Amino acid sequence: ANMKGEENLGAVVAHVLAFPCPAQGHVNSMLKVAALLALYDVRVTFLNTDYVHKRLARFGDIDTLVACYPTIQFKTISDCFTEEEHPGIGDRIGDVLNSMNLHAKPLLRDILVTEKVTCIIADGVFGSLTNILARELGITILHFRAVSACSIWSYLCFPKLLECNELPIRGDEDMDRIISNTPGMENLLRCRDLPSMFRPNRKGRLMSIESVVFQTQQSLQADAFILNTFEDLEIPVLSQMRLHFPKIFTIGPLHHHLSLRKSAANKAASLPNDANSLKGNLFQVDRSCMVWLDAQPERSVIYVSFGSVALITREELLEIWYGLVNSKKRFLWVMRPDMITEKVGEDQIPVELEEGTKDRGFVVEWTPQDEVLRHKAIGGFLTHSGWNSTLESIVAGVPMICWPYFADQQINSRFVSEVWKLGLDMKDVCDRNIVEKIVNDLMVHRKEEFLKSAQKMATLAHNSVIEGGSSYSNLDDLIHYIKSTAL
Ligand code: UDX
Repeated sequence: ANMKGEENLGAVVAHVLAFPCPAQGHVNSMLKVAALLALYDVRVTFLNTDYVHKRLARFGDIDTLVACYPTIQFKTISDCFTEEEHPGIGDRIGDVLNSMNLHAKPLLRDILVTEKVTCIIADGVFGSLTNILARELGITILHFRAVSACSIWSYLCFPKLLECNELPIRGDEDMDRIISNTPGMENLLRCRDLPSMFRPNRKGRLMSIESVVFQTQQSLQADAFILNTFEDLEIPVLSQMRLHFPKIFTIGPLHHHLSLRKSAANKAASLPNDANSLKGNLFQVDRSCMVWLDAQPERSVIYVSFGSVALITREELLEIWYGLVNSKKRFLWVMRPDMITEKVGEDQIPVELEEGTKDRGFVVEWTPQDEVLRHKAIGGFLTHSGWNSTLESIVAGVPMICWPYFADQQINSRFVSEVWKLGLDMKDVCDRNIVEKIVNDLMVHRKEEFLKSAQKMATLAHNSVIEGGSSYSNLDDLIHYIKSTAL
């Protein structure tokens, strides 16, 4: 540690073990929680799987991170997969979680004991494992989930929905049936809007719905629950959840909260502003798109990104591509090399798509997304409705077209379109004519309407993380709570 680090460590008493779910959207959120705590002199041991840590060390700029937050240290734990057999950080994440829930206990116990941890903040996907260890060792246990409150609540409603015969979903023809026994979101969700694990034919190798429900229920037994959301966004659902949880701290949107708190801390210490230095990338960022964006007219570009996990077939890719090109709108598209399930050779791309892209499009493998969304050239976001992407879009005041892939994305997109009125939901449809129409609806015909509600929500998001806001005071309470674990 540098001089400043040693000084800080002297004053630090509480020691948190942060144990994230080993995937992009979860590691970067947990890092923000860790950074927020570190700003207030809480010591954090951040525990990654070896596999994730290697990627974070390669793409995530750990040196800058440690220099900015000297009270965070990194440790790693095996996920019990060999390098050759590793399922990666993609849509087989369920295999990694199952393996860790089965095998990681002795390794985790060792770390907790050696590091003299006073408080665990575990991702709720490790609910049962971390609850058992915390009880055994007498350590405070907090759970964190990087997803929406509405998705968590839907998992908790599962037993009741089974009991009243609203579940299981009986196949494709049953998808538009309305679900009612979901307090706080009654008669809002169709079967297709429930998280994808509720479906008989789910995409990706996630955990089964029974395991997700079981792990989510474990969070009811944790000492408190931390969520990356804010009161004004999800209050009806949060009020229902509070009838069951001992304590819920909503401290989001985390990226914006951290950026404001870090700027303030730097200013107070007369340090240069590095508030947006924490990215937690597990992929190589390509900044070339920022130069391209600078040259585009205001609010003219639709940003297309399906996050770090979603896969897309060649057929779907071409439908969306045709839709975008035929819409005649400008677009910036993130195509991860590992995203397409079949190889698309360059010679196989139809000429009209190549030309349309050359004229109005820009394709990139991984962007600095939060910066992209805040760029003035961006007018809309075609997204898979991952929770981080949704919050980043909300803070930037950018309307969305939702094309959810799996998990919580199905319910997030319902809230985006029907509750918050921040855009349009295209779930379960992939047709070039519909893509063309929906892009024009968002970017032209209903532009003003969506921009207005997006700007209103952006203001609510901002107000929640400034002094006096709900997330702001909840974070203060959380820090106080965590510091008391060292007494
Ligand atoms: C996962 C799950 O899939 C999602 O359902 C859940 O809500 C959170 O965890 P992911 O699919 O990667 O995450 O989506 P998302 O939550 O949106 O997170 C992606 C992150 O990667 C965002 O913070 C986004 O800014 C970042 N990103 C994405 C980039 O920085 N550059 C890109 O080009 C694309």
